[in-house]
Amino acid sequence: MDKPKIFITRRLPEEVIDPYKSKFDIEMWPEEQEPVTRDVLLQKSSTCEGLLTMLGDKVDEELIQQSKNLSIVANMAVGYDNVDVPLAEKHKIAVTNTPDVLTETTADLAFSLLMATARRLLEANQFIKENNWNHWAPLMLVGSDIHHKTIGIVGMGRIGEAVARRAKGFNMNVLYHNRSRKPEAEEEIGAEFVSFDTLLEQADYVVCLTPLTDETKYLFNKEAFRKMKDTAFFINVSRGATMDETALQEAIVDKEIAGAGLDVFENEPIDAAHPLLGLPEVICSPHIGSATKETRYKMMCMSLDNLVHHFEGKPLISPVT
Ligand code: DGY
Repeated sequence: MDKPKIFITRRLPEEVIDPYKSKFDIEMWPEEQEPVTRDVLLQKSSTCEGLLTMLGDKVDEELIQQSKNLSIVANMAVGYDNVDVPLAEKHKIAVTNTPDVLTETTADLAFSLLMATARRLLEANQFIKENNWNHWAPLMLVGSDIHHKTIGIVGMGRIGEAVARRAKGFNMNVLYHNRSRKPEAEEEIGAEFVSFDTLLEQADYVVCLTPLTDETKYLFNKEAFRKMKDTAFFINVSRGATMDETALQEAIVDKEIAGAGLDVFENEPIDAAHPLLGLPEVICSPHIGSATKETRYKMMCMSLDNLVHHFEGKPLISPVT
């Protein structure tokens, strides 16, 4: 019997792919860094039965309409805002993601950004390397405390809870806002559910971990930043379009908030000349929330295992709906 034809939109390591070669007829975009071009993505998806996609690959109406044999999209990310899931469902195309395996790794990055922002670590690093360290001074590079402060987590999913556990270790007071209450997080971690506005008003660190949906697009806008304390920091490890970047930039310049730690941007890769990046109060990273070797390998295998389950008629490991 013919093996199902799958197309992988980025070059993955041979050692990961090898065990799956007996299961699939695998074609892979040859570049590890450069994303697949739209033309090639459309052309390959028109003939393959399974797609393994990255978060920047748009699985939209154009692609779905012309993918006559496609029956599954395995997205190698926990977020799947790049996939038109309702339309895929309508066309009987299954969609899977990679939850759980990246939870702790992404929470580590969120907390790293929070700490680096609060303690001005990158400025301190530059300060020494640019040979500016001539004296010790009482207020040289002073930052803000983290311990015993209030963290406000917007989006209390798995990653939110993992960030809350880290915050507890720092004796922080944990507030959260979510579509629904999380009694287990309240009991186990002592997190307190509050309204979005209360969270903005009370938190010293506002951490955005909510998925990008129509409701959360530009959730962090001018009004939201205005409600935050002028000493508070904004951390985003979810999706860039949950925040209005111009409003964020203005809020920092106007000293309405103290700074930001950002792993995600509305248009990725963001241009280095973007004014937001020029602010010393902003620390940024290029969407590396889940980027450890261990976790990325797990995400690759989970995506491939979802494809195996699908084509062997077994229940999917992590369907998105
Ligand atoms: C995801 O999996 O959605 C993350 O953003 C990737 O780092």
